[in-house]
Amino acid sequence: MKETTGFREKVVIITGASSGIGKAVSLQLASEGACVSLAARNAERLQEIAQECNQLGGSAIAIPTDIADQQQCRNLITKTVEKFGRIDMLVNNAGFTVVDKFEDLQTLELFQRVMNVNFNGAVQCTYFALPHLKNTHGRIVNISSLGGIVPFPGNASYAASKAAMTGFSDSLRLELQDDQVSVTMIYPGAVVTKFQEHRLDKDGQVRGSDGGSLYTEDMMTADECAEIIIEAAKQRKREVVMKPGKISRWIKLISPSLLDKIIIERVKKIIEREAQESK
Ligand SMILES: NC(=O)c1ccc[n+]([C@@H]2O[C@H](COP(=O)([O-])OP(=O)(O)OC[C@H]3O[C@@H](n4cnc5c(N)ncnc54)[C@H](OP(=O)(O)O)[C@@H]3O)[C@@H](O)[C@H]2O)c1
Repeated sequence: MKETTGFREKVVIITGASSGIGKAVSLQLASEGACVSLAARNAERLQEIAQECNQLGGSAIAIPTDIADQQQCRNLITKTVEKFGRIDMLVNNAGFTVVDKFEDLQTLELFQRVMNVNFNGAVQCTYFALPHLKNTHGRIVNISSLGGIVPFPGNASYAASKAAMTGFSDSLRLELQDDQVSVTMIYPGAVVTKFQEHRLDKDGQVRGSDGGSLYTEDMMTADECAEIIIEAAKQRKREVVMKPGKISRWIKLISPSLLDKIIIERVKKIIEREAQESK
């Protein structure tokens, strides 16, 4: 089913379009002349990005949506079809993380919230978009994370939500083969966005602006990540595993305990760097 095509006048829904990777994907698609339907909770930010998309030559609609809410996902699909008449691609990108040890969570509410947004949100949007995607032989693009392949400690809910996305996507890809709807999984490594600022701790406190200190100059930008995502979608690729995911996958196959040691060492270094920077 490999094919390369542009997105001119194609209708694309992007969740998590108000920031970071989703925003970059939306702007790049708009500059190709796509009709983009932008979803996230922050209505004001979405409206600003919709205007930018229109200025770039696309056609944009902002649909404020909390993807954890099934009815709002249904509304996103309905409003998109009302406005543009079809759906060619769904990019399930919205997500966030809670970072702390599982045993330190006061209740399971935060764990479930991560699953509800990162996993159920993608499932819900896919469910309501699917009849329209079948009509257009469309594309589903799911933004997972290396954390779904190589989980870090303190990330149990996030890792679970992204690994669940893999199972969902791999099964759906097979179901949809005859319908010629492709399912592409994207596994980004660290990308410089507001993701670390938006992350919550065990008490539900937002980390805030110092989350940006986790980023280093060699990390990928949101624009670079968006380019890779759009190219993968064009080619209907099965998956894209970004650096350093490929090597981690091999080490996990050959010597999982070695990978555990590498991860523990890496986490120690991150904690040390954070402690130094907060002095
Ligand atoms: N940055 C990284 O290093 C990295 C690495 C691997 C994977 N990823 C994945 O990439 C995706 C995008 O993350 P990012 O880095 O661009 O982070 P970001 O800048 O924090 O953007 C996250 C987006 O998700 C939206 N969102 C969060 N909760 C939502 C909800 N309940 N309903 C609808 N939208 C919601 C946010 O919008 P509102 O707040 O307006 O709702 C925002 O637009 C995520 O799935 C993340 O797991 C990121």
